[in-house]
Amino acid sequence: MRAALLIVLGLAIGIIGTVFTMRALSERNPLPHAVMVTMGFHRHQLQQAVKGQHCDAAASVAQLQHMQFTAGDIAAAFPDAPQPFLDLAGHLRSALQSAAQAAPADCPALVAALKPVDQVCKECHQQYR
Ligand code: HEC
Repeated sequence: MRAALLIVLGLAIGIIGTVFTMRALSERNPLPHAVMVTMGFHRHQLQQAVKGQHCDAAASVAQLQHMQFTAGDIAAAFPDAPQPFLDLAGHLRSALQSAAQAAPADCPALVAALKPVDQVCKECHQQYR
């Protein structure tokens, strides 16, 4: 009886320990995920603007600049990334800088400005995501 209880107790402690270890491991570096979620958020805001046909020039530039600065965090957020990955992060930043500088005044201009940006997102996700 006592042995059975000890086995059950041992199992329970083992399971709890595993859960805590797994959680600690997945939380070790939340930054890569956070940077991409932020990037996705701003991209989504722009998508909503296009969808609603309400593309305010100043608001679009602000979103694009947020994305540009966020792209600047990619290298630091993915510390073990290989050089081609970092190159793509650099391409993304310059694509976003061009898009922001183009200051798209309406929805068709915004869609056109986002095309080269989306291309880089896609290129990196296909290879590294
Ligand atoms: C240099 C490579 C690279 C570029 C460029 C890039 N991403 Fe990512 N992205 C990744 C990687 C790697 C992941 C998976 C990382 C993770 O979720 O922890 C990812 C995941 C994501 C996710 C999923 C996050 C989640 O909830 O799981 C979103 C959204 C995202 N990226 C948006 C974007 C957008 C929008 C762009 C372009 C504006 C972009 N990314 C450009 C590498 C990149």
